[in-house]
Amino acid sequence: MSRPLPVMIRGTGSYIPEEVLTNDFFAAYLDTSDEWIRPRTGIRERRRAGEHESTLTMSKEAGQRALADAGIEARDLDMIIVATVTPETPLPSTACWLQAEMGLDDIPAFDIVAACTGFVYGLVTAASLIDSNGYDNVLVVGAETLTRITDYQDRATCILFGDAAGAAVVSRSSDPSRQILYHNLGARGKDAKAVWIPAGGSKEPPSERTVAEGLHYMRMQGSNLFKAAVAKMDELVTEALEATGVKAQDIKMVIPHQSNLRIMESARKRMGLPVEKLGVNIDRFGNTSAASIPLVLDEARREGRLSQGDLVMLLGFGGGLTWVVTLLRL
Ligand code: UT7
Repeated sequence: MSRPLPVMIRGTGSYIPEEVLTNDFFAAYLDTSDEWIRPRTGIRERRRAGEHESTLTMSKEAGQRALADAGIEARDLDMIIVATVTPETPLPSTACWLQAEMGLDDIPAFDIVAACTGFVYGLVTAASLIDSNGYDNVLVVGAETLTRITDYQDRATCILFGDAAGAAVVSRSSDPSRQILYHNLGARGKDAKAVWIPAGGSKEPPSERTVAEGLHYMRMQGSNLFKAAVAKMDELVTEALEATGVKAQDIKMVIPHQSNLRIMESARKRMGLPVEKLGVNIDRFGNTSAASIPLVLDEARREGRLSQGDLVMLLGFGGGLTWVVTLLRL
């Protein structure tokens, strides 16, 4: 199922919009409260993209910061992957817009639609093509403008989601210790309606009716997802450790998708790790879907909590349903 892939994270970057929506913002017009939101989700606040911001503008900022951190130029890239469920346009992909924005031509560019696990799906795809196709540097971006597909009258979802972008330059590694040691990607499409958008695609094209009925907004069965996420993440962690022989205590940081602090805490406790080894930003940014994992990774590297040689676990579960786990040495 998985063999080591000879790649390293050469640089990371992120972008977070300025506008902060606190829990009190929602409490001012909806039947909700900080007392309900914070203990149930771990979220204090989240960000909302401004009028002139979009998945592309945030991807570009995050991507340029990742390139600067990696010490390479855009022209050194061999491919661009953008993971998103909120693309700039339905056609073409956000990655193609981004390629043009970065002044590039010819190199392959495509989007991955795997929701919360999209960045890691992109990372493994990039690593596999570096391994098999001779590429040296791939830009992988996870970017979402979730506030644009969120129903601000639905208290069960609107309090959860925020906007952001995170990016990584994934490069060929000549140092055998710096690699993806293990990866496991999966999906269960039969449970797709646990989190989905009913209209706006080919089945239900946008119309006055779909808009009037709010079918272009995200729908979620929160408590079913919660239970499935806890169970699957436990399973993924156990399998990854057993398959590699890695001891949980040798991992410097576990970076889970930021869907709910209680889900993340369950995985941490399962591994017997101290609180400081769990990468968390849900308190400040909410659930940013494909952006959440690269955002935490970038922040941890910038703060010096992660550095070259550290062993990191990336872990996620969400829309699709999809799931991922990777163990990588930075
Ligand atoms: O990234 C995509 C993957 N997403 C996830 O993995 C999300 C996983 N799920 C969750 O994080 C949790 O299920 C939620 C935080 C979304 C919800 O927490 P919960 O404890 O599962 O609540 P619930 O959906 O079972 O609802 C319990 C009650 C309901 O009221 P009644 O029917 O018991 O009267 C809801 O209407 O809480 C009510 N409720 C709220 N009350 C105040 C739901 N949302 C809110 C709210 N404020 N914002």
